[in-house]
Amino acid sequence: MYVCVCRAVTDVRVNAVIDAGAQTVDAVTAACGAGSDCGACREKIGEMVAERALVPAAALVRERAA
Ligand code: FES
Repeated sequence: MYVCVCRAVTDVRVNAVIDAGAQTVDAVTAACGAGSDCGACREKIGEMVAERALVPAAALVRERAA
């Protein structure tokens, strides 16, 4: 699913960026460009950061294995 239509960035890419250490919307934007155009997706990116950043690493390992 596209999170950022302007930059054609998917949820998979945004989650990968968050998992790699992006902890803010601006960090996600810097890493993959999502949110750097019209800005309509920035709220969604913020929700994804808040949600994903709170998931313990062990849960991510389990999620990827599933
Ligand atoms: S939809 Fe992401 S910047 Fe426009």
